[in-house]
Formats: sequence, structure tokens, C-alpha cells
Amino acid sequence: MNVIKSVKEMQAFSEASRSQGQKIAFVPTMGYLHHGHARLMQEGRKLGDVLIVSIFVNPTQFGAGEDFEKYPRDWDRDAQLCASAGVDVIFAPTAEEIYPHGYQTSITVSQVTQNLCGVSRPTHFQGVAMVVAKLFNCTKPHVALFGEKDFQQLVVIQRMVKDLNMDIQIIGVPTVREQDGLAMSSRNTYLSADERMSALSLSRGLSRARELFQQGERSALVLIATVRQIIEKEKCAAVEYVQVCDIETLQDIDVISQPAVMALAVKIGKARLIDNIVLKE
Ligand code: PAF
Repeated sequence: MNVIKSVKEMQAFSEASRSQGQKIAFVPTMGYLHHGHARLMQEGRKLGDVLIVSIFVNPTQFGAGEDFEKYPRDWDRDAQLCASAGVDVIFAPTAEEIYPHGYQTSITVSQVTQNLCGVSRPTHFQGVAMVVAKLFNCTKPHVALFGEKDFQQLVVIQRMVKDLNMDIQIIGVPTVREQDGLAMSSRNTYLSADERMSALSLSRGLSRARELFQQGERSALVLIATVRQIIEKEKCAAVEYVQVCDIETLQDIDVISQPAVMALAVKIGKARLIDNIVLKE
């Protein structure tokens, strides 16, 4: 497994792979890897001849007062996980490489970024779109894989790729959960033992909503109220949002007559956790 830190070297590697007719699969990450990332790599391994994983904690997607400095990092463990997942290259650029001096370009995906996490994190998706576009330009993938846990991020990237005519196939990979239902996330490490118990209310709430949906309930209001009630029983949980949205536009819907995503964000202690399920016939 190679570790590449420079943009030029990464581009040269990808160019050489492409000219040998190899298909490049790419998994962008911010490190502190877990089984959810391993699953993305596993899928990437199947789809590409060459598998590249980036590890870069992107400063521009964190707002003021968010956890950029404290974001967990563990290079040795990450490198081990990548090696055992059959990764060919870890691309680990510095912030200076990615954001050169005088940098002044931005990418705005104007609509699907507004609702859900966009309300409390108004600059987040601009940072995500920008860094993902940059990472695509460095790694030159044919296919890139993203977790469905960050559902809005996946929709934003799909929109950007379409809008900018990027010749890259975007694959969404289902959320990987701990045995007790908690969606895997690098930020779960912020949870104390008690908070982790409370955090189970997120997946419990979503499972209950899915059950009601399967029994025929189509009112978003009813499903939202059910989920809120389950989560709000936990003293340390502060619900930021629970919403039901169209899976493409991410606009709120009242009656579920087309495929919808039920998405939520909840603050538990210091951790802001997100989760979602797709509701469709
Ligand atoms: O999902 C993440 O870890 C990040 O948002 C991403 C896609 C690697 C961009 O920094």
C-alpha cells in the first residue's frame, strides 16, 4: 500500500493507472475509520482495479465553534484498516496542498443544501462540495463511494457531479450499524457510556417509524411525532430536527406518496449525531 501526500504525485499515479486501462475506485474520508468505512472500501474493491482512500480532515466543512480541532485522528489504526481492506493508495494531503495560498474559488449547490443539516450548518456543504471536487481532481476516479448515513451529503455530491458534468459514478452504500442499532460514526467516540445508551433512541425511533410506515402510516407528522417522543424521553438528548423529505429534492413532505427519507440530527452531550432511513413501498 502506498501513502501519497502530494497532489502532483497523486495525479501522476492516477493518470498512469488510467492510461493502463485500470478502473479507479475512490473512498473519501476524514479518517478515524470504522466498519462503515471498511464497508465502503469493500464495495470499492469490487468495483475498481485500483482502490484509493483519502484521509483529510477538511477545515472548510466545519463551522466556527464546531469540532475541527478536536475531530478524532488515529493514523496508525487507519493505515492498518486500509491495508487489511486491500487499499492500494492512501491519499493524505496537507491543508496547504489542498487549499493553496490565495485560493478563492467555491462551489455552491444551491438548493439541496438548504434544508436538514444546512439549517444549522449553513457553510458545511459548500466545504464538502469543494473538497470532494478537489479530491476528485487529485485522484481522478471512475467511481466514488459515499455512505448513506450522510444522506444529504450523498444527494449534494450526486447533484454536483451531474451539474458539473463530472464523469464519475457516485455509489451510495447502506449505513453500517453496531449490533445494538447505533449508526457507525467517528463522532460516536465523543459519547460517554450513558450517552451511548441514550444515543440508541435514534435508531429505535427510526425503527418504530419504519414499522408504522410498513403498517400503512403515511403522515409525516405522525411519524415525526413518534420519533421525537422516543428520543425526547432521553434527558441528555436535544433534537435538532426530525424531518421527512423527498429523496431527491430534500424538500419536506407531509404525506408519503413517493420515496422519502426520514432524517434526524440530535445532540447528545458533545456529539451531534445524524441518522436516517428511506421509506418506500
Ligand atoms: O463524509 C466525510 O467523511 C466527509 O464529509 C468527506 C466526504 C470525506 C469530505 O470531507
